[in-house]
This record gives sequence, structure tokens and C-alpha cells, in this order.
Amino acid sequence: MPTTTKTFLITGVSRGLGHGLAHACLEAGHHVLGLGRQSAAGLQDLPGFQFARADVADHRACAVALESLLRERNKLDCVILNAGILGPIADMGDQPLDAMREVMEVNLWANKQLLDLLLARDTPITQIVAISSGASVNGNRGWGGYSLSKAALNMLVKLYASERADIHFSALAPGLVDTGMQEQIRTLPDDVPFLSVTKLKQVRGTDAMPDPATAGRSVLNAIERLPKLIESGSFADIRKAPLSD
Ligand SMILES: NC(=O)c1ccc[n+]([C@@H]2O[C@H](COP(=O)([O-])OP(=O)(O)OC[C@H]3O[C@@H](n4cnc5c(N)ncnc54)[C@H](OP(=O)(O)O)[C@@H]3O)[C@@H](O)[C@H]2O)c1
Repeated sequence: MPTTTKTFLITGVSRGLGHGLAHACLEAGHHVLGLGRQSAAGLQDLPGFQFARADVADHRACAVALESLLRERNKLDCVILNAGILGPIADMGDQPLDAMREVMEVNLWANKQLLDLLLARDTPITQIVAISSGASVNGNRGWGGYSLSKAALNMLVKLYASERADIHFSALAPGLVDTGMQEQIRTLPDDVPFLSVTKLKQVRGTDAMPDPATAGRSVLNAIERLPKLIESGSFADIRKAPLSD
């Protein structure tokens, strides 16, 4: 057991980075409250793991899930808003508005609703981290709806931070992680005019794109250092200073 056992709430633990993060937390002896559409293979039977089913975009389901997860908790050390979707990779004019709205719904508005539900409770929260992306600041061709949603997520975090000085908020780009999201990118044809897609295909299998378990450990380490390194409400990229120092 670690010197202090913490309680983490993590959204989207069924696979990918959320699964890796949950695993890293449990491995370190912490408690994990997972919230998502599907249960988490490999986590369900581990001590310290509790799961409640909800689509993050479904306000009512999230309210019920949070009630069941938090009923007997007197504190939450860290909330990690991880669940997210990529949406289409295409030029702006080729991204249907409905698809962009869906990305906004999951990556932005669902997190606003979750924050409102969490902050309305009496349960004290020490830290809230929204998993953002380098795409929130890069403006690379093809990443339209996803980039917009993550840029807005960075601002969402800043706005909540301005209201709640008692909680450390941050938006964190986790670096590249070899997950289902990257798999979606790899299915794009090689001749797409989006340079970043070509680069992502090239770095698969290298240290620049770790598997979810490896990334989970390094992202957890970064999350634990964030409150000492950056001002509440800020965006940080794990690949850059001050986290890379
Ligand atoms: N992979 C990367 O290189 C990378 C880079 C930068 C940022 N990120 C960010 O990292 C986070 C995790 O992404 P990932 O790469 O791990 O993607 P992933 O493998 O596709 O996993 C996404 C997770 O989010 C959950 N999720 C999606 N929509 C949901 C919904 N409506 N309600 C509840 N859960 C939902 C999924 O659950 P289901 O199993 O139910 O679909 C899954 O657990 C995202 O915020 C992503 O933007 C990833």
C-alpha cells in the first residue's frame, strides 16, 4: 500500500489510456472509481476498483452512476476526465456538422455536466484533470472537430478554475498512446493530405507512442506532479516543460 491511499474517479476505463491509468492507480495501491459505457476487462476483479455504467453524454445516467460511486466516499483526491472520441479526420468543409457536434457533446459538454454534478456535491475534491491533446493548440490540418473540442476543453477547465480556488484544475495532453483512437487514424489511406496522420503512422511501435499500460504509469506520474508545477486552470503537455524536465 502507498503511504497515502488516494481515491481517483476516472471516466472511460474500458480500454485505452483510461484503462492504463486505472491500472496504474490500482497498481500503486489507490482506489479507482470507474465510470463509462462498458466495464473494464482486467480491472473488475482487482481490489480497490469500483465501476458504474453511464454514457458520459447522458446527464441522468451520470447522476445515478456518481451517486452510487460516491455515496460512501468522504473525499475524492483526483478526477480524471478521460473519456473522449476522435470524430472524422478531414478538411473542415468535409466534416459534417452533426459529426462535429457529437465530438463536442462527448469531449466538451459531457465534461461540463460531470463537473457540475461533482461540484454540487459536498464531497471535497483535491484535483481535477481533463485529458486534452496537443491537437487543442496545434491546429493541424484535418483535426477539425477534435481540435475544436479539446481547445474548448482547455478553456472549460480554466473557467472552472477561476471559480473554485480550492481545487487544482488542469488540462493535460498525454502524448501519443497506442490505443483504439490511433487505430482509427491508421485506417486512413496513406495518401491523405494530412501530414500529422502520416507522422502518427510512422511512430507506432516506438517509444514515442507507448502502449496504454506504459502511458498510464507516466501520465499518472505527471498528474501527481501537476499541482506543484503549473497554475490551476492551465494546459500542460507531458512532452514539454515543465513536465518533461
Ligand atoms: N491515444 C492518443 O494518442 C491520445 C492523444 C491525445 C489525447 N488523447 C485523449 O486520451 C483520452 C483517451 O483516449 P484513448 O486514446 O484511450 O481512446 P480510446 O482507446 O478510443 O478509448 C476511449 C475511452 O473513452 C470511452 N468513451 C468514449 N465515448 C464515451 C461515452 N460517450 N461515454 C462513456 N465513455 C466513453 C471509451 O469507452 P467505450 O469502450 O464505451 O467506447 C473508452 O474507454 C481521450 O480524451 C483522447 O482524446 C489520446
